[in-house]
Amino acid sequence: MSIIFFLVFLLCCTSSVLSKKDDEEVLLKIKKQLGSPDGLRWWVKGFDYCNASANIAPDYSYITCTDTGRVRSILLQNLDVTAPFPDAICELTEVQDLLLNHDLGLYGPIPSCITELPNLWEVIITDTSLSGPVPSFYNNPNLLGINLARNHLSGTIPSSFSTLPKLNSLELSGNYLTGTIPPGLLHTSTPSLVLANNSLTGELPKCYESVDFWLLDVGGNQLSSDASFLFGKQKTAVNIVLANNDFEFDLSNVEFSDHLYGFDLSHNKIYGKVPDSFATAAGLWYPNLSFNKLCGELPRGGNMWRFSAQVFANNTCLCGYPLPSCSNWAPAPAPVFSPSY
Ligand SMILES: *[C@@H]1O[C@H](CO)[C@@H](O)[C@H](O)[C@H]1NC(C)=O
Ligand SMILES: *[C@@H]1O[C@H](CO)[C@@H](O)[C@H](O)[C@H]1NC(C)=O
Ligand SMILES: *[C@@H]1O[C@H](CO)[C@@H](O)[C@H](O)[C@H]1NC(C)=O
Ligand SMILES: *[C@@H]1O[C@H](CO)[C@@H](O)[C@H](O)[C@H]1NC(C)=O
Repeated sequence: MSIIFFLVFLLCCTSSVLSKKDDEEVLLKIKKQLGSPDGLRWWVKGFDYCNASANIAPDYSYITCTDTGRVRSILLQNLDVTAPFPDAICELTEVQDLLLNHDLGLYGPIPSCITELPNLWEVIITDTSLSGPVPSFYNNPNLLGINLARNHLSGTIPSSFSTLPKLNSLELSGNYLTGTIPPGLLHTSTPSLVLANNSLTGELPKCYESVDFWLLDVGGNQLSSDASFLFGKQKTAVNIVLANNDFEFDLSNVEFSDHLYGFDLSHNKIYGKVPDSFATAAGLWYPNLSFNKLCGELPRGGNMWRFSAQVFANNTCLCGYPLPSCSNWAPAPAPVFSPSY
């Protein structure tokens, strides 16, 4: 009886002590791979890495743990380093949240072993000098969010993101990505897809027509052709940014839904007139149509009071409130017969 108890005790407690010690060794290895930066000076043999209150300070790196003392979250930020990605991170097999922010001196590729961490929920690696391809995550059933913004990543967007069943937010803005946008990247309701400020080309895949985006931001690329299918009376997308591309379509018959809160179509080649639904879309507060090829009289009434002249500036020949009245144009537009005159 007591021998069995002792054996059970030995088994359970040595294994949890062991696994805790394992992660301590891994953390010390990560510190060494980073060149022992000052920001990690309290990472020393025997340190209580699970004690959040001892480790958390604003702007510093921190760790949180599972009940068994394994590393659950690791945030490495604002480290003054010059080093490749510390691939010992891939030995933290229980890690759910992996965050590296503002570690400008990190260079070289992101190792593909991070895609094999089985418990990942969230990967945020931003504002570093890491380069090479975007890792192809594909076997991470719990992954909800990936943010690799403002690094030096190049190559194409892996279509394998489309195999992640829970992925709700994908942000790859501010890199050097090329090629086209793969179809079907996100499957959850109200997802967020931010691919802004890369060198993406081609058309926006038509399948995004039926996605209820909380945010779609593909601004600052070289995308072309028609993207009007994103808009429509029945659509539930909330924020759409297509600014600074080569989109070219007729806005005259586009309908804006009441769900739409903001859109930025500035700096494209959009032509035609501003449709009446622009003034009646109930939820619309932050549109931007500037720097396009729109022409004609703006719709009147409705919510037009919400919008400044900047929203419509630098088009081919728009007129009417809040821009100067159309009668200032020479030659004046042909008078329209209407009983209310
Ligand atoms: C955590 O660290 C704080 C500050 O160093 C200390 O006061 C506290 O006793 C530690 N908690 C545990 C559970 O070790
Ligand atoms: C893209 O770049 C523009 C111009 O620098 C900037 O205003 C915008 O915030 C960037 N977008 C994202 C999502 O970072
Ligand atoms: C619309 O976009 C233009 C060009 O990017 C910018 O200068 C302007 O401030 C924006 N206006 C509004 C109201 O957002
Ligand atoms: C935009 O329009 C304003 C007002 O008409 C004008 O002063 C400005 O030069 C235009 N900017 C560009 C870049 O065309």
